[in-house]
Amino acid sequence: SSSLRQLAEAKGIYFGTALTQSNLSNSTLTTLAAAQFDMVTPGNEMKWDTTEPSNGTYNFGPGDAIVSFAKAHSMRVRGHNLVWHSQLPSWVSSLPSNQVQAAMEAHITTEVTHYKGQLYAWDVVNEPFNEDGSLRSDAFTNAMGSGYIADALRTAHAADPNAKLYLNDYNIEGENAKSDAMYALVSSLKSQGVPIDGVGFESHFIEGQLPSSIKANMQRFTALGVNVAVTELDDRIQLPANSATLAQQATDYANVVNACLAVSGCVGVSQWGVGDADSWIPGAFSGYGAATMFDQNYQPKPAYDATVAAL
Ligand code: XIL
Repeated sequence: SSSLRQLAEAKGIYFGTALTQSNLSNSTLTTLAAAQFDMVTPGNEMKWDTTEPSNGTYNFGPGDAIVSFAKAHSMRVRGHNLVWHSQLPSWVSSLPSNQVQAAMEAHITTEVTHYKGQLYAWDVVNEPFNEDGSLRSDAFTNAMGSGYIADALRTAHAADPNAKLYLNDYNIEGENAKSDAMYALVSSLKSQGVPIDGVGFESHFIEGQLPSSIKANMQRFTALGVNVAVTELDDRIQLPANSATLAQQATDYANVVNACLAVSGCVGVSQWGVGDADSWIPGAFSGYGAATMFDQNYQPKPAYDATVAAL
């Protein structure tokens, strides 16, 4: 039968996964990933704490390993990410605020230049908003105010004019205060001519709790002239999973894929991890797991069959 990647490509979208460097030594995982997915997001390897652990010292080895795996299997790569409050080395947050802009621009320019021509897209700014739609208070807003976002996008565009530039966040999949804020930001950036190509909906869902407005929300963003992508899909289940929760998860996966297929300008769907065995969910959300399409042994779950059927 056809793989997710083949079915997605036939519909003009991609189907991706996240991979970490340690995943690359698990041949069960890599064989499945290469067979099913045509886009890779590095799970951690392009984040600031890995790529520039101290000021001006760069480490691209882990990210390069992911890019090399992807190329070997005809997969594209979404760069993730350049500017984020988390996994940010303490040297950045300890800088005097009048040095933060130069550090951010140098970081973006060096990292984007290193990967120039090799990546499909960059998550330039990750998770900029609080749940109420206000801008998160972090080293970047404290130093530069909201203008850091436009500055980051312009800096990334100058270093690789062909990479698609995204803003990425969670809990913006449905229409709510946070997605309204992202919508207002993208609208303002577009009207100022700031280079912005897309918005990433992380999509870390809870089984049975998908927002009903995903498709409408995708449509309002694409109407602004940007693409949207589902960038980090998983659908966590309260453990132990049972046949009812696995069936609801299958419905949830199909609903996400159907929303993307229904919106021209939704370019693809990426799951966050390959299977339940490598998913970040049990480590991050106590009592939850079983959040992906493949089980602990990388066998397909009902969510996989539902995704195949939807594609
Ligand atoms: C997660 C990784 O999967 C973990 O390994 C790491 O410990 C923390 O970050 N939103 C994002 C991703 O944009 O970068 C996060 O990845 C999950 C939430």
